[in-house]
Amino acid sequence: MAGATNRRWLVAKRVDGQISEDNFQWTESPIPRPGEGQYLVRNLWYSFDPTQIFLVGEAGRPDSESGAIPLGEVMRGFAVSEVVESRHPGFKTGDLIHSHVGWEDYTVGDGTGWAPAYRVPEGVPPNWAAGVFGITGVAAYFGVTEVAKSKPGETFVISGAAGGVGSIAVQLAKLRSLRVVAIAGGDRKCDWLRNESGADVVIDHQKGDVAERLKEAAPDGIDIYFDNAGGPILDLVLERLRGGGRIVLCGATSRYRANPPLPGPSNYLQLIMLNARMEGLLARDYLPRVPEVVDALLPLLRSGRLKSKEDLLVGLRKAPLGLSRLFSGANVGKQLLQMDA
Ligand SMILES: NC(=O)c1ccc[n+]([C@@H]2O[C@H](COP(=O)([O-])OP(=O)(O)OC[C@H]3O[C@@H](n4cnc5c(N)ncnc54)[C@H](OP(=O)(O)O)[C@@H]3O)[C@@H](O)[C@H]2O)c1
Repeated sequence: MAGATNRRWLVAKRVDGQISEDNFQWTESPIPRPGEGQYLVRNLWYSFDPTQIFLVGEAGRPDSESGAIPLGEVMRGFAVSEVVESRHPGFKTGDLIHSHVGWEDYTVGDGTGWAPAYRVPEGVPPNWAAGVFGITGVAAYFGVTEVAKSKPGETFVISGAAGGVGSIAVQLAKLRSLRVVAIAGGDRKCDWLRNESGADVVIDHQKGDVAERLKEAAPDGIDIYFDNAGGPILDLVLERLRGGGRIVLCGATSRYRANPPLPGPSNYLQLIMLNARMEGLLARDYLPRVPEVVDALLPLLRSGRLKSKEDLLVGLRKAPLGLSRLFSGANVGKQLLQMDA
């Protein structure tokens, strides 16, 4: 490492409209050294999640309210990294870990932070550790199983169906013998859903009338809605929910940049009339249970019954692009970035 530098992306400008490379500044600085109780990691694989836009912050909104990273500090996200030097009792040189780190070659950590660091389970390749066994797959797995309490034969509708969370959730729902109606935007996503995911019905929200298509796809109503998008589709589903229906609030990408904010769902009284429930899921709180997800999904991945659909960028320079692709809808499957150095 002698003489090498730490390439980094700093948060440079709050988001005003589209997020792009202009919101970040490229810089190079010396590689940091770990203090007592800390380790130094080399970052290898990054995961991108739409909520990272909150870390960049919003123009016109006071930083004290937004939880944004201060301007001039390094942008952060989940990654799989290798410990290259350790003065921490819980991690040793050579360990592969999953943690919340900077968009940079090297990060000093102490295992705590927005989410605790954990060692990548034995036998799990780093791309799977960053995706299907990271925050994304954890949201999909516990959303489909524990929050949705899904049962064979039920009708399961999902938005953002060909994204990181969605692509896993659709397949898990099929493996649990649910009838899956998958909603996504554009031909590339819908082709993957039709040809590879096993979804029973695919609705392209960019074409035609989603309300009409939902009526055709679920004439007897919807038992479960796995919501990644928020916005108007949630209201349409509430209209068609069955008695005892469950809505898993995983994400609301349509709301993250909306200015002024979108109104809340107007059909929520349906929850009363149908003894139905709508429940949030914060995958971060389920991260200590990653070993359960590995036990359940690793054999399925190895046998090919579950596919980790990944959309791969290479090189730290492309990190801003990785995040912006989630908002332009360009990604098919889990948006990952592999480091180049
Ligand atoms: N609860 C948790 O702990 C947890 C954990 C991980 C992720 N999440 C959330 O789960 C959701 C999916 O995350 P992901 O990482 O898998 O992202 P993703 O679905 O791979 O990517 C985002 C997708 O959102 C859709 N989108 C973009 N702009 C939109 C808009 N204005 N309105 C509606 N849809 C829009 C696009 O898909 P289409 O083109 O198909 O519309 C885009 O590809 C996100 O809301 C994320 O924040 C929650």
